Amino acid sequence: MGKKLIRKNKADIFYLEEINRLRKFKNAVILAHFYQQPEIQDVADFIGDSLALSQQAAETDADIIVFCGVKFMAETAKILSPQKKVLLPDMEAGCSLADSCTYEDLAALKKKYPGHKVITYINSTARVKTISDVVCTSSNAVNVVNSFPEGEKLIFTPDKNLGNWVKEKTGKDMVIWQGSCEVHDVLKIENIIKLKELYPDARIIAHPECKDIILKIADFVGSTTALLDYTVKSKSTRFIVATESGVLHQMKKKSPDKEFIVVPADETCSCNNCAFMKMITLEKLYMCLKNEKPEIKLTKNLIEKAKEPLMKMLTIK
Ligand code: 13P
Ligand code: SF4
Repeated sequence: MGKKLIRKNKADIFYLEEINRLRKFKNAVILAHFYQQPEIQDVADFIGDSLALSQQAAETDADIIVFCGVKFMAETAKILSPQKKVLLPDMEAGCSLADSCTYEDLAALKKKYPGHKVITYINSTARVKTISDVVCTSSNAVNVVNSFPEGEKLIFTPDKNLGNWVKEKTGKDMVIWQGSCEVHDVLKIENIIKLKELYPDARIIAHPECKDIILKIADFVGSTTALLDYTVKSKSTRFIVATESGVLHQMKKKSPDKEFIVVPADETCSCNNCAFMKMITLEKLYMCLKNEKPEIKLTKNLIEKAKEPLMKMLTIK
């Protein structure tokens, strides 16, 4: 067992050295989402939530963007920076939520509700974005919905939990697509109550992709960045965290004296992982930088159409 550990460390040291050499040599930037494995977060040039990563992708002057996240995020980077080479270390890193609403599903919904403007959560395919009016992320969804005038008919897709949460916050009626994230939607209120009984002083914090019953009892609801900021600023020293466990890495780094308890996905583990996000490894990142593939390739037409609702989002404060 000891030997295995040394071998793994040696390999990781090699990958890290090569990643550092290659990114400089190729003028590549490594962007990583907060749900990535700790070693990926630590090697990244920039870590963030979906909104911050989109902004970085739109502004970077690197020649290559290596996206350590899932496919819709890398596609977004390509749409915002089409002249750059955008790499995703594992093309299989998808998203159950993005898959829950296809282009055909949304086209049919728009036909059913003519005259409605479409607000699409960034966790969606590039094709779905092409028939949307504006994109939002969990950090700006309330502002994006509020940017529409009173009385405008709205469709919100694809996340039902985020959609209902925004509906309640803004008081705006919306047709909501019934999609959900397989990581957040399975979290159970019973498990949170059990944890709260064990740790009565703990603050409950939750991502808006969780079920509404969880969002109702949470002390704070927000995107991954908002949750992280809350734990830094809060006077509390213990938090029950209802989101993907990757974010705990930064929470612990920023507040080493505080305690973070992740809400378990089921009775057999004490964690809550997005299997897609965890597909990215140091080895795959190294191979991807070395071979400059897998590369995100989108047609000019798709990029042009999907860029509009994304750019619109970036102008909304
Ligand atoms: P954020 O908008 O907080 O980055 O969330 C992205 C995501 O995939 C949540 O499941
Ligand atoms: Fe998609 Fe959920 Fe994974 Fe986020 S956590 S990438 S919404 S499956």
